Amino acid sequence: MENKTVIGFIGSGNMAYALIKGLIDDGFDANNINVSDPNTELLDKRKSELGVSTYSDNLSLLMHSDVVVFAVKPQVLSAVCHELKNKVNPSQLFVSIVAGIKSKDINRWLGGNFSLVRAMPNTPALFQSGVTGLYANELVTKEQKKSANLLLSSVGECFWVNEENLIDAITAISGSGPAYFFLLMQSMKQAAMSLGLDEKTAESLSIQTSLGASIMATNSGKDPKTLRAEVTSLKGTTQAAIEAFQDQNFEGIVAAATRAAYDRARELSKELGDID
Ligand SMILES: NC(=O)c1ccc[n+]([C@@H]2O[C@H](COP(=O)([O-])OP(=O)(O)OC[C@H]3O[C@@H](n4cnc5c(N)ncnc54)[C@H](OP(=O)(O)O)[C@@H]3O)[C@@H](O)[C@H]2O)c1
Repeated sequence: MENKTVIGFIGSGNMAYALIKGLIDDGFDANNINVSDPNTELLDKRKSELGVSTYSDNLSLLMHSDVVVFAVKPQVLSAVCHELKNKVNPSQLFVSIVAGIKSKDINRWLGGNFSLVRAMPNTPALFQSGVTGLYANELVTKEQKKSANLLLSSVGECFWVNEENLIDAITAISGSGPAYFFLLMQSMKQAAMSLGLDEKTAESLSIQTSLGASIMATNSGKDPKTLRAEVTSLKGTTQAAIEAFQDQNFEGIVAAATRAAYDRARELSKELGDID
């Protein structure tokens, strides 16, 4: 992103912090980053740690930013947009990382049809290891798409989709996904303890195994199915475990869990988007 572009974050919580830190670590000039939040203590902290400019009102931030990132909780987005209504410059780009709220609802609240990118990052973004799904509405220009991509790629990999509904699928896989892996780690830790290992060892074995498997899947050039087959010797210990997983319909459990997350994302989108 051109370092002249000024990016304003409305909401200065965890995800905004991750994105701002990612941008600065990538060489983006902190002087071109604005942040607004009602919590002045938090603003002071962001200013002293990151060197960004801070605003206690969202309208002033809007006036001083080319790209405006919505980084508030879904329940407050409607009020934030109403505050900005009729003050938007049509050349501005909005990037919403807010879960569940559709571009047409955001634009209705803003009172016009503006360039808007919806992004669904995940919490590993806090450690620059995230993955983000993105969707651009029809008004987003090539340059604006590039800006949004650079913003989100500062905290991990980016994947674009052409249909907004697919953001709900991304929410169900990578948005909520870190929790699925934490659940597996937690279950493996419990299982290790029940096999006699102490808690600290059990936890480290579970976390490091997960990390090692992810690194192998990322760097080996092989897909997960091949990697699994390669560590599953005939009649060996891994085969015994995999068969036990499959007896419990492991794939079916994963499919049902992700479907539940997808259905909930769609429900939330409707509930929250219907607000005026
Ligand atoms: N965390 C994730 O894994 C994740 C992943 C993908 C997307 N998201 C989305 O990212 C968004 C932000 O999540 P987060 O975890 O960063 O939340 P967060 O830590 O609660 O940050 C939100 C910030 O917005 C502030 N705020 C509240 N009302 C405001 C207003 N009217 N104007 C400006 N700022 C306001 C909050 O202040 P107070 O605390 O004082 O209210 C808080 O500091 C959410 O919509 C979430 O759906 C999160």
